[in-house]
Amino acid sequence: MKPVEQSSHSSAAGAAASPVRVWDVPVRVFHWLLAFCFAVAYLTAELDDWRLLHVTLGYTVAGLVLFRLVWGICGTRYARFSNFVRGPQAIANYLRSLLSGRPAHYTGHNPAGAVAIVLMLALALLLTTAGWLLYTERVGEWMEEVHETLANLMLMVVLVHIAAVLLSSRLHGENLARAMLTGMKAGHEGASSQPPRTFVALLLLLAVLAFWLS
Ligand code: HEM
Ligand code: HEM
Repeated sequence: MKPVEQSSHSSAAGAAASPVRVWDVPVRVFHWLLAFCFAVAYLTAELDDWRLLHVTLGYTVAGLVLFRLVWGICGTRYARFSNFVRGPQAIANYLRSLLSGRPAHYTGHNPAGAVAIVLMLALALLLTTAGWLLYTERVGEWMEEVHETLANLMLMVVLVHIAAVLLSSRLHGENLARAMLTGMKAGHEGASSQPPRTFVALLLLLAVLAFWLS
């Protein structure tokens, strides 16, 4: 199965692929911190003795998503929302290409993956806002139900996201989870290696550590 390249502006079927740095360091640090905080916040949700940890990790999720919203505007090429958030036509075309057995290859996020990403970011913001309203007793007990439902909805999207990552890794013959660790992905014609922006990632990491230790 030969993937077809679709970078943000060009489509070059069968062009030779060489590895390029697609994910800058801030995107990778954001991703794995988000995954860690969400998972541990979810697992500690029902334990009263762990409430402080739950709340701290929940606030961290909110902070990480706010950072990602800013980085989606001023980050490197493949981190920008304008590079991967697309309309229904592009999503339908991508899904058709999957079914046809010639999956379109995107150097950055593919249009279907982008739907899950936008959903996860939006749900994370709603979920943590609901948690804050609940914790600070600004609203009634009914918020408990809302908070829990949002957490379960997000868990469902996360599970679909992980399944889709594993499936598209198989379809493209490319380990996408490793790419989220190393930043390197197959880049076709029109792709360009991105600067690592390690300093920004360090600032993000320091901000999270400072919050945890405060
Ligand atoms: C709680 C768990 C997780 C959450 C909330 C989550 C969330 C996200 C988000 C928001 C992005 C977009 C990254 C960005 O552009 O900033 C993303 C991308 C990605 N995630 Fe996750 N993720 C989770 C777990 C995982 C796991 C366990 C894996 C590995 C199997 C994984 C692999 C990836 C990959 C490979 C991408 C890039 C997809 C692409 O190539 O387009 N994620 N994830
Ligand atoms: C990733 C973020 C979060 C996830 C996945 C999450 C998930 C959950 C879940 C599933 C429950 C229901 C537990 C049960 O069955 O009783 C829960 C409860 C709770 N959460 Fe969160 N939460 C998050 C963020 C937050 C935040 C930011 C706060 C507060 C600032 C918060 C405060 C609470 C409180 C106070 C409860 C207990 C409600 C009760 O009395 O039963 N959560 N959370």
